[in-house]
Amino acid sequence: MSLIGTAREWDAFCTRHNRKNETLGFVPTLGCLHEGHLSLIRKAKEQNDLVAVSVFVNPTQFGPGEDYEAYPRDIERDHRLATEAGADVVFHPAAEEIYPRGASTEVEVKGPLTQKLCGASRPIHFKGVATVVSILFHIIGPDRAYFGQKDAQQVAVLKKMVRDLHIPVELVVCPIVREADGLAKSSRNRYLSPAERQQAAALYRGLQQARGYLASVAGGCADAAWLKEMIRAEIQAQPLAEVEYVEILDSDTLDDIHTVGPEKNALAAVAVRFGKTRLIDNMILTPE
Ligand code: PAJ
Repeated sequence: MSLIGTAREWDAFCTRHNRKNETLGFVPTLGCLHEGHLSLIRKAKEQNDLVAVSVFVNPTQFGPGEDYEAYPRDIERDHRLATEAGADVVFHPAAEEIYPRGASTEVEVKGPLTQKLCGASRPIHFKGVATVVSILFHIIGPDRAYFGQKDAQQVAVLKKMVRDLHIPVELVVCPIVREADGLAKSSRNRYLSPAERQQAAALYRGLQQARGYLASVAGGCADAAWLKEMIRAEIQAQPLAEVEYVEILDSDTLDDIHTVGPEKNALAAVAVRFGKTRLIDNMILTPE
């Protein structure tokens, strides 16, 4: 059985697969799998003997008024796609399995890392993510875990959590998978109207323009405020777009960067609302 729902079934799976001698890659997801998720599963398959994917719409990372109830759920489709991409097992627990009655322990990465960018408008989000990912790590016990650069702040927060709590897992960060016009693949893209969908490609165009500008200037140095303005202008030219933030930061610490230079790992990150749909995207600006 490759679709399981409890920690006990997971232990049985490990016993069957003689887990001690094999490396295990783990891909946590909320489900509604698309090419972005599948790229992580394929990478995990390349690098490990066994691959586990979790599909769990985690209630604790959704704030009031966010789309927890409406989040698309189709475990049969997810199970099939994950298996085709190379997953050996899909872990699809009920909420009570992850959070047993009376559970009262949370994992919180404190400080600016979780307060800026998406943390400003989603104050409980990263606490929910850190808590569920540490619970999943404890149940599954992977050697490597795979995350998308699409959620750059999530990656920075989880790297910090793994370091701070000495969790013995290697985090592998995979590139953003995009649609033909550059829009980052996301389960939430389906909420966009045709006009919003067309205008949403401006996030990528804006980021690319900033990257292109930086590559073109002598010495590869530019004022971050100027680059941010360039990105913002491209997005705001779309009548349906409402910019939440455009920031340029150090990709590990999320500290603000004022001058982008060739030696810095400068991350340009944006969040934009189209009606009720909130999109995020980012790009490392520094040329490789
Ligand atoms: P979810 O949004 O389902 O994403 C699962 C993983 O897929 C994340 O690591 C995310 O960064 C990656 N991903 C999503 N879209 C991508 C894209 N276009 N290209 C590359 N990777 C992409 O992120 C979560 O779920 C949850 O917060 C989770 C970590 C599972 C905790 O509940």
